Amino acid sequence: MPGSGLSRRTLAGAAVAGVGASGLAACSGDSDPGAEPSRTPSVEPPSTPEPTAEPSATAAPSEPSEPPGLVDLADLPVGGGRVVAAEEVVVTQPERGRIMCFSAVCTHRGCVVSDVEDGTINCGCHGSRFSVADGTVVSGPASTALPTVEITVRDGVVRLA
Ligand code: FES
Repeated sequence: MPGSGLSRRTLAGAAVAGVGASGLAACSGDSDPGAEPSRTPSVEPPSTPEPTAEPSATAAPSEPSEPPGLVDLADLPVGGGRVVAAEEVVVTQPERGRIMCFSAVCTHRGCVVSDVEDGTINCGCHGSRFSVADGTVVSGPASTALPTVEITVRDGVVRLA
């Protein structure tokens, strides 16, 4: 709050002026020399409550957030896989219980692969096919394998690591 510093400085100056005036009054001939010097009433700045953070209705729970779920294991065919276009990955299960994940961005010219069929990950743009087992090129024009993506499997759900 830019104005609060200015008002505090102003109030501090006012307090000093009050002390000075009191000091003058104590030295004047009007006061009783044996009397206690009058106490200057303290000038306190008006209380300005500190801004407090308002509780947010959308505050996240205290639990750590889970990485996004890609696919349920139950929906992952053995020897096949699923393209998760939103995350640009393809999840495969070349053998029962062996789960793999690759980038779904074709290494030829960057299309997102279209499907997984007959044991290959297939790009619809120019026909490249990649192995569901390791992402290597089965047929071009692509010449480079799909990069592997780290995943975790928990509670029957494949997630990004
Ligand atoms: S972009 Fe996939 S085959 Fe060309």
